[in-house]
Amino acid sequence: MLRTKIAVFVSGGGTNLQALLDAQKRGEIPSGEIALVLASNDSAYALTRAADNGVKSVVVKRKEFPSQEVYEQKMKEVLEENAIEMIVLAGFMSLLSEDFTLAYPKRIVNIHPSLIPSFCGKGFYGLHVHEAALAYGVKVTGATVHYVNEIPDGGEIILQKAVDVLEGDTPEVLQRRVMEQAEWVILPKAVEMVAQKLQKGN
Ligand code: GRF
Repeated sequence: MLRTKIAVFVSGGGTNLQALLDAQKRGEIPSGEIALVLASNDSAYALTRAADNGVKSVVVKRKEFPSQEVYEQKMKEVLEENAIEMIVLAGFMSLLSEDFTLAYPKRIVNIHPSLIPSFCGKGFYGLHVHEAALAYGVKVTGATVHYVNEIPDGGEIILQKAVDVLEGDTPEVLQRRVMEQAEWVILPKAVEMVAQKLQKGN
């Protein structure tokens, strides 16, 4: 059976990449194959996770290119060389232009550590998301997987999962709980859903 070839874009620890690799090993992503890891920097621990799991990786650094356009052209070349059909942004911190996202309609998904439309958009990434949730005093937060379009965190929602905010939570403790109980659960499920859709051509 053909499998959708997936590239995972990373910048940091790669715990979401790890969740995808583990899910793939458990046979939970039958419609997709993680064929490439693309990192925005060469110190991302996600690269070690890729190597440990025999997945090809490449580093493409924005600052090595004269413009966003040339940077994105390089990424598109790498994706074409590897016959990539779908992109997963997993802790990816580099900007992607509207042109880039429009080149892959309904083929790019992102994991965001809140229940969109809360605590999302410009400036809401990493710990800032959990700091904002705690500052607001929400009792429930969670994670969202959504399609990526030209609006930051604005694409159609695919899956969400709620997580309780507990008394005394710090941003770090809350981030870890959202990762463990939500991100690492819904990202593999959403990736299989989209990979399957792309296989069936719908
Ligand atoms: C996670 O909080 C994720 O929600 C966000 O980036 C953070 C780091 O992810 N997108 P990872 O450990 O690099 O997968």
